[in-house]
Amino acid sequence: MTNSETKATLSFSDGSPALEMPIYKGSIGPDVIDIRKLYGSTGMFTYDPGFMSTAACNSSITYIDGDKGELLYRGYPIEQLAVNGGDFLETCFLLLNGELPTADQKKDFVATVTNHTMVHEQMQFFFRGFRRDAHPMSVLVGTVGALASFYHDSLDINDPHHREVSAIRLIAKMPTLVAMAYKYSIGQPFVYPRNDLSYSANFMHMMFSTPCEPYKTNEVLVRALDRILILHADHEQNASTSTVRLAGSSGANPFACIAAGIACLWGPAHGGANEAALSMLEEIGSVDNISHFIEQVKDKNSGVKLMGFGHRVYKNYDPRAKLMRETCYEVLQELGLQDDPLFKLAMALEKIALEDEYFVSRKLYPNVDFYSGIVQRALGIPTALFTGIFALARTVGWIAQWKEMISDPEQKIGRPRQLFVGSPKRDVPAIDKR
Ligand code: CMC
Repeated sequence: MTNSETKATLSFSDGSPALEMPIYKGSIGPDVIDIRKLYGSTGMFTYDPGFMSTAACNSSITYIDGDKGELLYRGYPIEQLAVNGGDFLETCFLLLNGELPTADQKKDFVATVTNHTMVHEQMQFFFRGFRRDAHPMSVLVGTVGALASFYHDSLDINDPHHREVSAIRLIAKMPTLVAMAYKYSIGQPFVYPRNDLSYSANFMHMMFSTPCEPYKTNEVLVRALDRILILHADHEQNASTSTVRLAGSSGANPFACIAAGIACLWGPAHGGANEAALSMLEEIGSVDNISHFIEQVKDKNSGVKLMGFGHRVYKNYDPRAKLMRETCYEVLQELGLQDDPLFKLAMALEKIALEDEYFVSRKLYPNVDFYSGIVQRALGIPTALFTGIFALARTVGWIAQWKEMISDPEQKIGRPRQLFVGSPKRDVPAIDKR
């Protein structure tokens, strides 16, 4: 970041002295006003629930232009990475290291990740402690956090080598854990990773093969999964990433931080939206019911939202949603499901919503979750696992952001302030006087 020549001046109507604050310029995107001296100089905090106008860090990983509907990983447009940019592990290398890998670097990176795909054999006992009908996100919060008790040799966050090893372990083991959560829920034996397969093909193998029947990988479906992973890999300072950074700011180990990110992702306003969007489509059931549903969404007292629509940052079409819609079409075509009623329903719902004044005036467009559920369902992934797949994809983004934070010299423990509106100091009355 560079200093701007322009300064911001904060003045007060009661005649208190004005405060001049520096403005920093990013490489692209809005400038920021540095308010760090505000409290020391004025005794006041800023008030910004939901971080509507607050940059909590500087970052060089991911950039979103919400008005243009643009998403860049390390400067590269998501469309190029998803269409001609190689596979998910290339995106992982890019997010972690800042540049796309050369052929040799890629070979080494793939080999390193592949060598870490197994989890400690003892981990299976953690799984067995859960009810079979436990939500996979609850299983993942528990088991990812539990990794910290197995990998003591990579927990020193001040050692760059430890940070690197933890990052690789998390990226490599997430597919294994997600697939184990699924296998446990359906009562099938856990399937060990196969290191001769690609990252996404191996995940599908661990999900869908059994000791009695190997899973035959289908290139179109593997590529679709890979695309889901690329599209969800990072999204700058969203709620779960900010959670990972905040947890990590205290010096907590990376496995604990990623477990915190998974917990945050679970909510329906964030990663849980793909599951909620598919359930919504199932509930609407038919094109004939769309107008009644839209009326409910527009009625503020109903509490009904159009899941998979709207975004804090995108005020234009989410570029990931466009790609996901394309993938949806390809996968359904490959599986001979072109007439899939849910896909048809989703397209009809999207069309009606995009023409409706309520959505137009609020700049509400489909987000990535609107179509990702349909693709995942077609791949054979059960609805309850959708957010788990999101967590698997986002792990690289979380860990890249965590690493960036740890090596940032400006990093401090995250500690928001508050506007206190409770009772002023008072004395505790005796119980018979209350
Ligand atoms: N359906 C109906 N109305 C909506 C929706 C929606 N999906 N999203 C926003 N609105 C309305 C909202 O009620 C408000 O109306 P008004 O101005 O009359 O009060 C206006 O649009 C602005 O919305 P907001 O709630 O102030 O926007 P936000 O930035 O706080 O929320 C959001 C963003 C994603 C939480 C919200 O759009 C939402 O709940 N969408 C549905 C859930 C969803 O699809 N989430 C996935 C996000 S993308 C993947 C990810 O990041 O995990």
